[in-house]
This record gives sequence, C-alpha cells and structure tokens, in this order.
Amino acid sequence: MSPIDVEEDTAVISAHWREESYIRPAAQFIAQANLTDPGVFERFSEKNFPECFREYGAMLDWDQPWHTMLDSSNPPFFKWFVGGKLNACHNCVDRNLQKHRNKTAFYFVPEPEGEPVVSLTYQQLHRRVNEMAAMLREFCGLKRGDRVTLHLPMTLELPVTMLACARLGVIHSQVFSGFSASACAHRIADSGSRVLITMDAYYRGGKLLDHKRKADTTALESDKTGVKVEKVLVWRRRPGEYHSEAPMVAGRDFFVDEALAGCKRREVAPEIMDANDTLFLMYTSGTTGKPKAAQHSTGGYLAYVAGTSKYIEDLHPEDVYWCMADIGWITGHSYIVYGPLAVAATSVIYEGVPNFPDAGRPWRIAEALGVNIFHTSPTAIRALRRAGSDIPLQYNYHFKHMTTVGEPIEPSTWRWYWEVIGKREAVIVDTWWQTETGGHLCSTVPGIHLMKPGANGPGLPGIYPTIYDENGHELPPGSHTAGNICIRNPWPGRMLTIWGDDERFVKTYYARYSKPGSKDWRDWPYFAGDGALRAEDGYIRILGRIDDVINVAGHRLGTKELEAACLTVPEVAEAAVVPVPDDIKGALPEVYASLHPGVAAGEALAEKICSAIVEQIGAIARPRGIWLVPDLPKTRSGKIMRRVLTAISCGHDAGDVTTLANPEIVEELRALVRNKTAGGR
Ligand code: WTA
Repeated sequence: MSPIDVEEDTAVISAHWREESYIRPAAQFIAQANLTDPGVFERFSEKNFPECFREYGAMLDWDQPWHTMLDSSNPPFFKWFVGGKLNACHNCVDRNLQKHRNKTAFYFVPEPEGEPVVSLTYQQLHRRVNEMAAMLREFCGLKRGDRVTLHLPMTLELPVTMLACARLGVIHSQVFSGFSASACAHRIADSGSRVLITMDAYYRGGKLLDHKRKADTTALESDKTGVKVEKVLVWRRRPGEYHSEAPMVAGRDFFVDEALAGCKRREVAPEIMDANDTLFLMYTSGTTGKPKAAQHSTGGYLAYVAGTSKYIEDLHPEDVYWCMADIGWITGHSYIVYGPLAVAATSVIYEGVPNFPDAGRPWRIAEALGVNIFHTSPTAIRALRRAGSDIPLQYNYHFKHMTTVGEPIEPSTWRWYWEVIGKREAVIVDTWWQTETGGHLCSTVPGIHLMKPGANGPGLPGIYPTIYDENGHELPPGSHTAGNICIRNPWPGRMLTIWGDDERFVKTYYARYSKPGSKDWRDWPYFAGDGALRAEDGYIRILGRIDDVINVAGHRLGTKELEAACLTVPEVAEAAVVPVPDDIKGALPEVYASLHPGVAAGEALAEKICSAIVEQIGAIARPRGIWLVPDLPKTRSGKIMRRVLTAISCGHDAGDVTTLANPEIVEELRALVRNKTAGGR
C-alpha cells in the first residue's frame, strides 16, 4: 500500500498545491517576540541534544533538580529530567502569586451574552484549587497515583478540577463533554477511575443542555465492566440551582458546592512528584477500535508546553490569549491550561459555540477583553469565512499572533485568516502536533521565520523531523514526494506510553522504522501516522492521516470505532466507514452497511445506525450519509477496500478494481449512491 492510499484524496489535492510565496511577519510583532535569535537552532541542534532542553526545564520551579536530562537506556521508554521533582499545580498557580497575584489567570465567558464575564485572578484560582484539592482528598479519599475521570464542559470548574488533581498527584482523565455516556464509561473502565466528576448542565447553541443525565448511564455501563463508580461529583453551573432531569442517587451523587462547604479556606501542600510520574491521561483514536490513553508525564510535559507556549505561542504575562479549542482535547490541556498558566498568561475560556448568537460573537469577545493572541482550527476559520468577510471588520480588536491547529489548512483559507481576521497585522503559526506528542512539533517560530500559507514550517528547536518512504529511505527536502513523517529523536513532551498497554505503544509508534534491540535513540524514530511533504526550504506540509482515522473538524475519530458502533445494530452484517471531504469540517464519515439476509433496507434502519453512532461515540461522529448496500467491495482475502468506497462517495474514479473478489459491486454501488436508492440518507 502506498503511504497515502487511504487519504488519497487529500494527498492528491494537497500535492497539487503550488508552492506559495513567503509572507513576512509584522516588524511590530518581531520587536516584542520572546524568541528572535536564530541561534536557537544551533543551541538545540543535534550536537547539543539532549542537554538543549535544559532551557525548557529552567522555565519551571523544581523541588529537586534532575540529575540526568535523558535516560534512553530502554527505548522507546525514554525518561526526561530524571531525578527531578516538582508539582505541576505549584508551577501553574502558586509560583505566579508572587508577581501576578491579582492578575487574571482565566476569563470565563458564558455563552448567554447577558451573563457577565468572570475574571478569576491567580489568587482566586489558588483559593479555589486548594479547596477543591482538600475536598478530593478528604471527602473522596483520593491520593497520588489514583485516576479520576472528568466529564466537564467548558467552564472554570474544569481547570480548577484538573489543577486540584495535579496538586494531589491524582491522574486526571478529562473526557470531552460532547462525548456520549458510553464513550465516557469506556474511558472510566480503561483508566480504573472510582470517581466521576461532572456538571449538571451547560449552555451550547442557546440551550441549557442536561449533562448530568449522561453520568447515570456512564456509571451503569462502567459498573457492568467491573469498574464501579463509587462517587459522582456534580458541579452546578449555577451553585444552589440544579438544572438536570436526572435524580441525584443517594450515597453516590454529591453536589460539589455542598461538599466544598466544609473546605473553605483550606490549603493543601502540593504533592512533590517525580518528573516521570503521570500528570494526566488523554484518550485518542487509533487504528484499532478501542480508544487509547496517551499517558503524559509531569516534568517533561510541563517543561515542553511551557517552552512552546513561550516561543511558539509567544505568550507574555501581559497578553490576553484566547484558544477556542475545548479543554477536553489535548490542545486545551496544553494550550489553554498548563502551558499558558506556566508562563503566567491570561487565558480565555468560552463556554459555547463561536457563532452564537451570531458570527460576530468571537470578535465581540476579543474586543471586550482585549484579546491579542488568538488560536483556532481551520474548521472554525472556514465557518467564520462562510459567515462573511464583513463581520470581523465591524469590530475593533487587534491580534498580533494567531494559531491554526488540528488539520491541514488550504492556502486560500490561510490567506483569509491572515487578511480578514488578522487584518494583515497578526503573524500566523500553523502548528502540527498530536495528542501523543504533548506539544507542537513542526511550525515556524513566529519571531524568526517567514510564513508560507498552507505549510506548517520546519521542526521546532530540538525536534528533528524526517520523511521516510515505505522502505525507510529518507525522502530529501524538495523531492516532491509524500511519505511518512517521523521525528528522529525523543523530546520531553512525548507521552510516556499508552496507559496499560506498553506493547501497543511500541507497535503503533515505533515498530515501523525502529531497530529492535538497539539501545541508541537514533534507531527509534517516532512514527506519527501522517503523510507529509517537505519542500526545499525544509518546511513541512502535513497531508493527513495514513491510518484508519478520520479527522472531523480537527477531531480524531477511528473508523473502527464507528464501524463497531454500526455493528451493534442487530440488522447490520458488515459496515465500513470512510472519510469524505467537507467544505467546512475537512472530512465527514460516511457509512456503508450490508444487512443480514432477509432484512429490508429503509430510512428507519439508516436512522437506527445513525443513533447508534451518536449514542456510542457522540454527536461529532454523526455521519454525512449512510448507505445500506447488498455487499461491500472486498479483496480475495476478504479485506474491505475502503479506498474504493471513498472514491464512490466522492464520485471519483475507483482506480484498478481487478484485484477485488467482487469487482461487479463497484458499478452497482456507484449507481445506488448516485441515485440515492441505497436506503441512504
Ligand atoms: C492533524 C491535535 C495539519 C494530524 C493537536 C495529526 C494537523 C492529528 C495539524 C492529531 C496541522 C494536527 N496541520 N494537520 N497544523 N495539527 N493535525 O491528536 O493528522 O487531536 O496527526 O491533536 O491532527 O490530532 P490530535
């Protein structure tokens, strides 16, 4: 299989992009940037590796200094800052009290425009985190090493809870609030959490959504797997009022505001953790059906997100920074909470959707709070663009820096971002990275490099990317051939392992190009699973996933997970899910399902499959179409040819189908899809 087979369409489109010309960042930006010295690349060059990362380590407070920068004796289980001890909450909260006590740490912007913005200073954050930590320790009996699952929406209570866990050395596992009860139950069972922390309700799209309701199903489903949820802690969106239809279960469910009443003014000493102790788990989708948890470290992770927040996001304590991602994804953990707080920035948390009540909302928020650094995804930019170029112009805000992340951005969308949202004043960084990598890997350094629309940029300081072909040969810069992007070296932000599955960790990220048995880190390149091109100037352009992952609006969904959900519908015999390009969201899943003999296709059945997906995964996975078909195209060995289905969905040529066991099905499916007569919807 060629490396870009699965993402053929994205790859083909991208490979036809012409090389764009460079754009120079504004002089005003460069004059104030944290990093303008190109010597940084010499400092972080291979000859100074791994000691170069001392520069990031030095951005933190350590209770005990490390004795070894990198222990690479057991690849690929690399350890950073070995011997070092620290606490992440201390580094994000306590140490900022000295200089920034009364400075805003977080602005919380409720979705209803009539509700006032809340500003939480570092002092107030310290108080709230301490009280929460006391409650978790005393009321729930949580201690270092325990896991806790959070299923919290975008409100202040989410970072307060995360930081309280970090203070105690408790490992938090936040599940995106849009995920379903089943998805949450799976993550509780996998992580072995005894406590679930949720909220009664939150605003989204103008509605107060009942969220606690999910917790009941979650607990039930998790109990069935043998992992019993002993306590469900329920934050109330408005303390004292309960906005959920779901009854509180006596002995299991507790309101956080009530439980906190006994913890007023309590202080809890931060637990002194080893640099390689786990800070949190973040689940993500991969090639097999089961989501896996990236297990992130305390020292390496925090040093890496602090360093990249300072150099790539270019955050200063004086800035007001707004990242529109959800804290339930890695972007929010690294670049709304841990990174920004570690460099004492002010970070904005917005509860709702960007276009509520209208597409001017983001710019009203930016104008009112003086946001000067903005961070979002290509999907959001495309949606804002569709709403009209005149809208941002009506507001008097000014960004000096903007980020794009999560999926490839087309040059035309990039230009619109730069011209219209950024008013040609803001520098743009297109940061490529992953849940597993903790922080940015490839991007321009905004105070050093020229920008090139649609390209990410070179490896960050201390990150040495390479592109391999199928046989492990390096494709030189400027070869105009796409291959598999790898990072040749370890770096501090990389996850420690996959929670509970070292074998899967090695297999997924290292089996492809490493030399088993070698003790030299140079023989262990990290395999990211993305197709990429590298131009003469060393700028990387990511084309998309090469595995069975669909990137919907920058969110990774495993095709196998979606297929497994379809197969829970008893009428379905086989199912295949493929990505189809979408103007706004980049890609959307489309389902092809064959039914058991004697079962009639129909709209009701398609609806049933759709509900199964939404219930088991979440509304973000809702397919664009569902085709109920007589059979799926298969190879002689029985492998479903998803590439052929993608071509049918997109109306493209399916290429060579002679290797199929049932080549005649291709024309049949094409006709069904064209005429929408396949029980489709
Ligand atoms: C894709 C999100 C192009 C890529 C931080 C990667 C990108 C996956 C970019 C990780 C970008 C992320 N340009 N593609 N700037 N950023 N991706 O784990 O396919 O949710 O492998 O982490 O998103 O998604 P994840």
